[in-house]
Amino acid sequence: MIRFNQKEGVFHIQTKSSSYVFCLSDFNVLEHLYYGKKIPDDNVRYYGNRQIYSHLGHESREDRSFSPSVQGMEISPFNSGDIRTPSVIYNCDGDLDCNRLRYLSHVIYKGRKPIDGLPFSRRTTDCETLEVTLVDKGKNLEVTLFYTVFPSVDVISRYMQIKNTCKKDITVQKLASACVDFYGMDYDVITLEGIYLYERAKVSRNKLERGTFKNESLTGTSSHNKNPFIAICSHNANEDVGEVYGFNLVYSGNFAEEVSVSHLGDTRVLLGISDVGLLWTLKPNEILCSPEAIMTYTDKGIGQMSRNFHDHIRQSIIESDFAFSSRPIVINSWEASYFAVSEQKVLELAKSAKDCGADTIVLDDGWFRPNDKSGLGDWRTDKERFPSGIKGLAEKIHAMGLKFGLWLEPEMVNENSDLFKAHPEYILTTSKAPLISRSQYILDLTREEVVRLIADRISEELKGAEIDYIKWDFNRYATEAGSFSTPQGEVYHRQMLGSYKLLSLLKERLGKVLFETCCGGGGRFDLGMLYYSPQIWTSDNTDPYARIFIQNGTGVAYPVSTASCHFTRGDCTSGRESTYEFRYNVAAFGAYGYELDLSEYSDEDKKLFKEFSEKYRRNEDLNLSGDLYRILSPESSNFYADIKVSKDKNKALFTFLEINATGFIENMALRLKGLDPDKLYKNEVTGEVLHGATLMNVGIRISDLYRKKRSDGYTVAFTAI
Ligand code: GLA
Repeated sequence: MIRFNQKEGVFHIQTKSSSYVFCLSDFNVLEHLYYGKKIPDDNVRYYGNRQIYSHLGHESREDRSFSPSVQGMEISPFNSGDIRTPSVIYNCDGDLDCNRLRYLSHVIYKGRKPIDGLPFSRRTTDCETLEVTLVDKGKNLEVTLFYTVFPSVDVISRYMQIKNTCKKDITVQKLASACVDFYGMDYDVITLEGIYLYERAKVSRNKLERGTFKNESLTGTSSHNKNPFIAICSHNANEDVGEVYGFNLVYSGNFAEEVSVSHLGDTRVLLGISDVGLLWTLKPNEILCSPEAIMTYTDKGIGQMSRNFHDHIRQSIIESDFAFSSRPIVINSWEASYFAVSEQKVLELAKSAKDCGADTIVLDDGWFRPNDKSGLGDWRTDKERFPSGIKGLAEKIHAMGLKFGLWLEPEMVNENSDLFKAHPEYILTTSKAPLISRSQYILDLTREEVVRLIADRISEELKGAEIDYIKWDFNRYATEAGSFSTPQGEVYHRQMLGSYKLLSLLKERLGKVLFETCCGGGGRFDLGMLYYSPQIWTSDNTDPYARIFIQNGTGVAYPVSTASCHFTRGDCTSGRESTYEFRYNVAAFGAYGYELDLSEYSDEDKKLFKEFSEKYRRNEDLNLSGDLYRILSPESSNFYADIKVSKDKNKALFTFLEINATGFIENMALRLKGLDPDKLYKNEVTGEVLHGATLMNVGIRISDLYRKKRSDGYTVAFTAI
C-alpha cells in the first residue's frame, strides 16, 4: 500500500510488515524519515533531525535548523548542500542552479512499468508504484524516483531516471538506484565474498565503523569475488531474530554499494552501478535510468530476509513460465569429456542418461571447436565431429525421448576467428595491444550492429534445431573496457545493456527455451541474470565439501531453485574423495543434474543414480516453492543443516551434512524450524509421529541418524498427517 498524506506532506509505503516513510520537507526537498517495522501513523515528521551544526549551509539564511547535511535524504546530489556520500553526481557546466532537486509532482498507480533495456521485478499484479518527480532549480533536468511495493513479500524496489530538460549537454558521474538513510550506526554489514571456485562461500559480517564500507565489482560482471547482495542488521541479529535490512541490485555488471557512516554517526546505504569511470553524456531530452534496487526489512532475522528475497525472486524476477515448474535433470558433457565431444559420444551419454533418471542432454563447449583457442564469434558447428549438425543431433536426442541442451558463449570472440580477423574493432579494449584471456576478447556490445550480427549468426547456425535448454556462458572479465565507437565513460553500462539486448533477442528467436546462465562457474550470480535464466551454474567447483559453503552463501540471497548443482566425480577441483550419497545430498540442495562420463559407471551405480533422481523429483516442489530455514552454518560449525518446508507446512525435508569426519559422535540435538507447531508430523525414516512444536523445541537427536554410514550425510522427510 502506498499513501500520500496531503496534510502531513508524507509518503508512506507499507508492506505486510514494514513501513518506508519520507516527506516533502522545507523547500520541497524529499526528506527520508523512516524505514523499519510497520507503523500505523503518517505524522512522523517530528523524527526529522533539526539539530544545529556549525559550518553547514542553510537555504533559510536565519533558521539554521534545516540543512541537507543533517536530514535523511531520499536523493542526495553532490554539491547540493549535503556533505555526506552523494547518491548522484551530475553537472551542467555553467549553470549554477543545477543540483538542487526539489519536488515537482507525484503519481501513485497499481502495477508497474517496465524499465527500458534493463531487467526488473516484472510482476505487475499485487504491486503498486509511486513516481516522484523532482526538478532542479534551474529546470535543467528532471529526476524521477520510482518506488514499487510488493506488499506480501515485504519488498520495495526503487530506481531513478534522469531526464535532460535543457538545451545543453548534462554529464552524469554517479547514479545510485537507492539511497536509504538511517539514524545511528549500530549495525553489522553482511556481504557474500568469494573468488573463482569459491563463489559466495564466505558470508562475511563486519561491524559497521565510521567511514565507508564498499562492496564493488569492476570486472564487467557482478563477479566471483563480490555479489550485489548486501544487508545491514542489528548486532544481535542471527538466523531467527533481530532486525535485518536486505538489499540487492537487478544488474549484472560493475556495481557499487556503499554503507557510509557520517561524522554525525548516521548510516547511508547506497546501491547502484559503479561510478568508477562513469561519465555519461545526456543530450537534450535524453533519459538515463538506473538499474532497479530491491530492499526488504524484517525483525525476524537473516533467515526471514532470505525467505523474503526468495519469494520475491521467484514471483517477480524469474519468468513465470519457469519459476515454479519442474526443472530438467540434465546430464552435461563438460566434466564427462570436456572438449572431446562428438555426436557419437553425446548419443552414448544419452543412452545411459535414462538409466540414471536424467531427461536432458546438454552438449557443453566443444561442438564448434576442439579447444578454447578458436571458434567463438564464428559459431560454425564442427561437422567432422557432429556430422548431423546440431539440428540432426537434437532430432536424434528427441527421438530417444530426451530433451536437448546446448552451450553458448555469445558475448565473446576468439582471437583466432574469422570475425575477429575481419573486425578487430569489434572488441572491448582500451589499447591497440588488447589484453587476452582464455584466448578470447569480449565483443563490443555497445555497438548495436555487433549485437545483431551475433544474434543472426547464432540463430542462423541453429536454424530449425529444436533446443530445450541453453547454457549461456561468459568466461573472462572486462579488464579494459574501451570501445572504438562508444565514449569511454559509457562503455561499461552500455556493454551491459548490449548483453541484455542479446539475451532478449536470442530468447525471442529460440522460443520457449530454459536458459541457464554461467560465468566461468558462478561469476554472474545476480538478479539481472535471473531475469533471463531461472537457474545459474553456481560454481565450477563441484567438490561437495566446497559446494556446501558455496551453496550456503548463495542461498542467503537467492532461492535454492536458482542454484544449478550437479552430481559429479566430485574430485575434479579438489582431488578429494566423497561417497555417492554425500554428493547427492549436497547437489540436491538446488537444481539437480549430472556431469559425469557414465561409461565409467556400473549398472549398479546407475541404478543408484536413478534412485537419486527419483528422490530429487519427489522433493523438488520444496526447492521450487518451499521455504528454506538454515539450521547450522558450515562457517561456524563442522556441519551444515537446513530444513525446507512447503508453504502449506505439510511437507518438509531436513538435511544434515558433516564436513570433516572426526570419528567422534557428538551428543547433538537439533531443533527443527518452520513447521506448524500444531500439526503432527511423521518422521519418514523412523515412523515416529510428533507435533511440530516438539520437533521445533525438543528437536531431533543427530546420533540417531548416525546409524547409517557417517560420511554420507542425512536427509529426513517429515509429512504432516
Ligand atoms: C566455463 C563453465 C564450465 C564449462 C566451460 C566450457 O568454465 O563454467 O561449466 O561450460 O566454461 O568452456
